[in-house]
Amino acid sequence: MPETATLTLPDGRVLELPVVVGTENEHAIDISRLRAESGYVTIDDGYMNTGSCKSEITFIDGEKGILRYRGYPVEDLAKNCSFVETSQLLIWGELPSPEERRHFSHLLTENSALPEDFRRHFAGFPVHAHPMSIMSAMINALQSYDLPGLIIDDEEEFERVSAALMSKVRTIAAAAYKSSVGEPIMYPRYDLRYVENFLHMMFSRPYRDYVPSAEATSALNLFFLLHADHEQNCSTSTVRMVASGQANLYASAAAGVCALWGRLHGGANQAVMEMLTYIRASGMSVKEYVAKVKDRSDGIRLMGFGHRVYRAFDPRAVLLKDACDKLLNAMQIDDPRLDIARQLEEAALNDDYFISRKLYPNVDFYSGIILTALGIPVEMFTVLFAIGRMPGWIAHWKEIYDAPQTKIYRPRQVYTGPVKREWLNRFQREKGMTDSRGFKVPEELRTTQAPQSQSLPS
Ligand code: ACO
Repeated sequence: MPETATLTLPDGRVLELPVVVGTENEHAIDISRLRAESGYVTIDDGYMNTGSCKSEITFIDGEKGILRYRGYPVEDLAKNCSFVETSQLLIWGELPSPEERRHFSHLLTENSALPEDFRRHFAGFPVHAHPMSIMSAMINALQSYDLPGLIIDDEEEFERVSAALMSKVRTIAAAAYKSSVGEPIMYPRYDLRYVENFLHMMFSRPYRDYVPSAEATSALNLFFLLHADHEQNCSTSTVRMVASGQANLYASAAAGVCALWGRLHGGANQAVMEMLTYIRASGMSVKEYVAKVKDRSDGIRLMGFGHRVYRAFDPRAVLLKDACDKLLNAMQIDDPRLDIARQLEEAALNDDYFISRKLYPNVDFYSGIILTALGIPVEMFTVLFAIGRMPGWIAHWKEIYDAPQTKIYRPRQVYTGPVKREWLNRFQREKGMTDSRGFKVPEELRTTQAPQSQSLPS
């Protein structure tokens, strides 16, 4: 006997609503027939309690610090898989066989270069354009160069377009960076793997090759892998929303980039580095800064600490901390901000203010430090997040596209604006007359006609 929930409406009507149970025993009340049967809708600002879809891609249990892609704990994937293999898992639901892995790598390589005339678009942006602005525009523009991708109705074509998007987004990101620093845009190399190729396009110059260390490559691979999906977050929900209208993959992904741009979403790792820069520049000690945070009079927070979903710990942060320690030891970088970060972490983890509120370092705390250690400028942080999140967006786009029952996303609202008003011409409005509903119009003026000269052209 399926479970139901009982809802009693203010007029006394009683509705039985089906309960949906997920594979991890998550329970949801299915209200899809609510409006049709009762005239009511639900309201849930910020969708804090709303399951917008059923999805088979990622599972999170924030209370227990669990993150799994297609059932695999992210810790196992981080230990055993590359970002590219993880992407295939996310998009197609299974880890690739060696042959599938080789084929997808081949597609990534073959699709890494941008069309030659496409490269001219970069010159159209001002030098200081934000790379996220360039990236979102360029992903959208790619569609015009890849018309078969407009409607993807066979698996082979979908695989090619997915590879093209994952590969070119990395080329676009590096090209946006090169344009912003006035250096020549580098071509991708066919002999390099995904992460090395990206670092090559970022940091090589026509006359000098950049060869990343094994620690740098491994840290960036982990960064991408840990950002690859995070179920129905703001940008992924945006991608699904756009996809539900049957927009193509490029347009949907470009919308995801725009959503990710915000400081409350993809911009937090940048805020961590800004905080460290501020502490350094102010000459304040770490102890003084922590005291300022605890004092709360300035309203400042310790950026990179706390998480809405993860209450015990952020599993991504645990993995990144380890990678961060290895990277910093191997690179021996002399950046005083990294030292401040270490002191902050230690101070906060031993302070009752943070312990009692369950405030632990989140993924952004360590990712900001790792990216800085790799020489990635702060404006590029969110761009790298977008590269990592691309397979997740593709997987969600595919989930929408493949499901025959997908409806266009179209939430309802509770309208709180003015009720129907009477039309007043400009003269009447200037005289302060309004309609009979809100503000009373004096009786003698009600018949006044606007002078001809004041009437507006239509
Ligand atoms: N520094 C200091 N105090 C904090 C912090 C922080 N980073 N985060 C929360 N608190 C305090 C709050 O003041 C509050 O204290 P109170 O109960 O005494 O009033 C308590 O901890 C609970 O805080 P909430 O704001 O209710 O927690 P919420 O879940 O709404 O916020 C958030 C989570 C937004 C991540 C918050 O912890 C924060 O602002 N962190 C800093 C920004 C950051 O790192 N964002 C990245 C998140 S990870 C990601 O998005 C990928």
